[in-house]
Amino acid sequence: MLTLINNATIVNEGRQFVGAVVIDGEYIIDVLQQPLADTEHFDNVVDATGLYLLPGVIDDHVHFREPGLTHKADIATESRTAAAGGVTSYMEMPNTLPPTTTPDLLAEKHRLAEEKSRVNYSFFFGTTNENAYLLPTLDVHHVPGIKIFMGSSTGNMLVDDDDALRQIFLSSPVRIVAHCEDDRIIQQNIAEFRRKYKGQNDFPVRYHSRIRSIEACYESSAKAVALARDTGARLHVAHVSSARELELFSDELDVTQKQITAEAVIAHLMFSTEDYDHLGAKIKCNPAVKTPEDREALREALAMGQIDVVATDHAPHLLREKEGGALKAASGMPMIQFSLVSMLELSDQGYFPVERVVQLMCHNPALLYHIDRRGFIRKGYYADLVLVDPTANWQVLSGRYYTKCGWTPMDERTFKWRVRRTFVNGKTAYADGIVVDGIRGMALKFDA
Ligand code: DOR
Ligand code: ZN
Repeated sequence: MLTLINNATIVNEGRQFVGAVVIDGEYIIDVLQQPLADTEHFDNVVDATGLYLLPGVIDDHVHFREPGLTHKADIATESRTAAAGGVTSYMEMPNTLPPTTTPDLLAEKHRLAEEKSRVNYSFFFGTTNENAYLLPTLDVHHVPGIKIFMGSSTGNMLVDDDDALRQIFLSSPVRIVAHCEDDRIIQQNIAEFRRKYKGQNDFPVRYHSRIRSIEACYESSAKAVALARDTGARLHVAHVSSARELELFSDELDVTQKQITAEAVIAHLMFSTEDYDHLGAKIKCNPAVKTPEDREALREALAMGQIDVVATDHAPHLLREKEGGALKAASGMPMIQFSLVSMLELSDQGYFPVERVVQLMCHNPALLYHIDRRGFIRKGYYADLVLVDPTANWQVLSGRYYTKCGWTPMDERTFKWRVRRTFVNGKTAYADGIVVDGIRGMALKFDA
C-alpha cells in the first residue's frame, strides 16, 4: 500500500523544507523536496498542509512497570501514551519487579512487548553488585545498553561496590547508562535534616533537592565520567539535572565522536524548585528538580551540545503513592505524552531551532545506540513519523491523557503544538485523539 504525506514542513538532518514523503508498507521509499501536485497514484493521501513532519521520537529512558508493577502502568497503556506523544520507539529501564538482571528476564520482557507494545521497543539490561559476569554474554544487536544505578532510586538496584562498578565498566559490550547520585552524600543530608527536624520521618517535599543535592549529583557523575575515561567504556549519563555537572561534558555536537554523552529529561527542563509550591510531590523525582538557574543552564546546554539526548524518564506512580514529603512520596512522574510538545515550546521560546529538537529526540538516540534504520526521514528507513500542528493552542485536561496512572504534572497547561498523527512502521498508530487499536511495534535492532 502506497501512502503519500503531502505538503508537510519536513524537519530532518539540520534543515526544513516543504515537501512530501512516500511510504510503502513499513518503509519510507521516497522523500520529495516539493509537494506533489498529482496524487492519484496513491492508495492513501495525508494532506499535511500547515503541519510539521518529524521523525518519530526515540525515547531512551522510560519506566513502563511491567512485569510486577502493573498497578501503576503497563506496556500496553504506556506504549499507547507514547504513540499519542509522537514517540515511536522506546528503551525501557530494568527497575521492574523482578528487575531485569538476567537474560531470561530480558527475554520475558521482549515476549510481553511483542504481544502488547503499540510502538517499537527495547529493554536495558540491569546491573547489580553481582552480575557483571553476564555482561559479555549480552546480544549487542538486541540490547541497547546496560543501566547502572550509581544512586539508589525506585527499585533498590544500587550498585555500591566499587569493585563491581569497575568490573561493569570494564566488561560492558554496550553503552552504559548511569543514574548518578552519590548515596553517601544523600544519607548525610537526610541525617542532617533528621537532626534539624528532631527525628521526624519525613520533611516537606521542597527539601528534596537539598537532600538529593547538586553535590550528590556532581560527585557521582564525575566518578562515572572518570571511570569511563579510565576504562574506555562508552558512558551515557542519564538525567543530568544541574548546571554544575555540565562542565563534565564536551560541547562537541557530533555524537558519533563522543565516548561520553549526556541526557536531559523533561522534568528538569520544564520544572524548577519554584514549582513545588503548586505541584508538590507530583514533580518529585530522582534526581530532584533543581533551581530555575539550573533549568536555564540545562536548556542552554541543549543548544550548545553538552547534552546530547532529551528523554522523558516517564515514571508513572499512582497519586496515592505520591503522598508524603521528601522521603515518603514516590519519585517519578509520567511525561511521555508531552515530551515532544514541551521541547517544541522551548524552541518557540528561542532556546534552539526545531532542527535541534529533532537531533536531540530522534537523530541522536538513533546514532548513539546504533539503531537500525530509524530516527531519520530517509529512503529505506522505517516509516516512523510524527505530524505536529504548530498552531493548535490546546489545553491538557483530564480525558486528554492516556497514562494508566491517571494524572500528569502537565494538567491544565496549554501548548501551542499538538501531535496530530503518529506513524509506526508505516501504519497510523495515533490520529487526532484516537490510539488505533491493533497496531504493534517491533523490537529495535542495533548495529554493533
Ligand atoms: O524519579 C525517578 N523515578 N527516578 C528514578 O531513577 C526511577 C524512577 C522510577 O522508576 O520511578
Ligand atoms: Zn529513570
